[in-house]
Amino acid sequence: MQIKSVDFLKSSANINQCPEPKHTEYAFVGRSNVGKSSLINCITNRKKIALTSGNPGKTRLINHFIVNNEWYLVDLPGYGYAKVSKKERAKFESMIKSYLLERKNLACLFLLIDIRHAPLQLDIEFTEWLGSNMIPFVIVFTKADKIAKDVLQKSVDKYKDKLKEQWESLPPIYVTSAHNSLGRDEILDYIENTNNLLKSN
Ligand code: GTP
Ligand code: MG
Repeated sequence: MQIKSVDFLKSSANINQCPEPKHTEYAFVGRSNVGKSSLINCITNRKKIALTSGNPGKTRLINHFIVNNEWYLVDLPGYGYAKVSKKERAKFESMIKSYLLERKNLACLFLLIDIRHAPLQLDIEFTEWLGSNMIPFVIVFTKADKIAKDVLQKSVDKYKDKLKEQWESLPPIYVTSAHNSLGRDEILDYIENTNNLLKSN
């Protein structure tokens, strides 16, 4: 898919403030600092349309972008950031979860996972929660540029094994890097195919 235009629409604190759900929507979710905002910039070919930071907890609202005047892309706050208070963490989690449960035009969720870490309980539990609420998702491993190629494949395989303990069939899995655009075209193809599928229905 060619990216012809990308516009930031608005930041919302809850679902009622989100733009009218008149376009197909894709959202990026994952632990704080996993690289959601960076991957959105990479995918849309814009350096700073989504704000990034080396410090976790940068994205604090539900951020809507519109791509090619055709579909919405959403940058969500991260979950599991240890350095904020329990109360604040719970607030982010409930913001994310109510958005995911209620947003009618959400076609697919991209769950980002840092490939450098062994499977984390928090992420595994989140996939369980998505499954039990029937929220369609794909897995996107991030920061692939940070590890050697042979280690990368082993880490992906290890993660797949962990997921197979819980899932009969695995969701689509992408390996990406916002720094060298690995996986960018595959994710855009996935979105384009989903858009076409939904249009033909
Ligand atoms: P929150 O909004 O705080 O939840 O974080 P986020 O998931 O949006 O992460 P963000 O995109 O802000 O990136 C966090 C840090 O990781 C930044 O320092 C990025 O430069 C770095 N980063 C993101 N993606 C990559 C990547 O693919 N490769 C490398 N090497 N660094 C990355
Ligand atoms: Mg962010």
